[in-house]
Amino acid sequence: MEFKEKIVLVTGAGSGIGRVTAHAFAKEGGTVVISDINEKGGQETVEQITALGGKSIFIKTNVAKFEDVEALHKAIKEKYGRLDVAINNAGIGGVPARTHEASLDNWDKVMAVNATGVFYCMKMQIQQMLTQGSGAIVNTASIAGLRGLPNNLAYVASKHAVVGMTKTAAMEYARKNIRINAICPVFTVTPLFDPEVMEKLSAGLSNKLKSGIPMKRFADPIEMANTILWLCSDKASFVTGLAMPVDGGLTA
Ligand SMILES: NC(=O)c1ccc[n+]([C@@H]2O[C@H](COP(=O)([O-])OP(=O)(O)OC[C@H]3O[C@@H](n4cnc5c(N)ncnc54)[C@H](O)[C@@H]3O)[C@@H](O)[C@H]2O)c1
Repeated sequence: MEFKEKIVLVTGAGSGIGRVTAHAFAKEGGTVVISDINEKGGQETVEQITALGGKSIFIKTNVAKFEDVEALHKAIKEKYGRLDVAINNAGIGGVPARTHEASLDNWDKVMAVNATGVFYCMKMQIQQMLTQGSGAIVNTASIAGLRGLPNNLAYVASKHAVVGMTKTAAMEYARKNIRINAICPVFTVTPLFDPEVMEKLSAGLSNKLKSGIPMKRFADPIEMANTILWLCSDKASFVTGLAMPVDGGLTA
């Protein structure tokens, strides 16, 4: 029960990595605030957690809107008076295209959710964590925050931004007992990355992507959740500013 009595926020917890991470924190005793733009998915996660005896509430949020992010953190403060752990995980993939053909709209949307959303959330979270004198934040970046990924310029730019923001904020608050890290997942089987859909789009692509990963498989969301929990636990007490690949050896 590593996170007993802890208040944990997970954005984008209505699906995929966020949902599995929310479950993992709840299993360790945390009270988990589920935040997502998708009300149905978010409520489902809360129902799943409470059915298993965990504690959870849902707050609908569009992380790309500052008013929403402000309201989310105000609501947490009013209800619980603190925020111990924040996982800024909400993200979108965008529409794949080569750079000269990529749309301006795709750039704006991907940057607004994946990069600006993380800034808005960290801004509010750090204000609260400074008041209470402690906290841990993990941002979900990507291996696309560490290297290029052809046909995904906006996504790659947004995830490099997440890595840069993580390192900068980590340095700013290192002496304030607030640790800030990022995980950089490789392809993880979720609705955002579905190998079956991928295979229908382009036969053989799924195997080609797998073959580039030394472990020769895609990740399971629980492997991301376990890493996030470790980064937020006291076992990682001297770890801050890390953009940690969780990638079966890909970036090696
Ligand atoms: N799946 C992968 O292969 C993979 C790899 C690297 C990084 N990631 C990152 O992991 C994170 C989670 O992705 P996932 O694979 O679980 O995807 P997912 O689509 O299953 O979950 C993403 C969640 O974010 C929510 N969301 C989207 N826009 C939002 C917004 N504006 N405000 C609030 N919530 C919003 C969605 O409703 C959804 O519930 C993302 O940041 C993604 O970029 C995923």
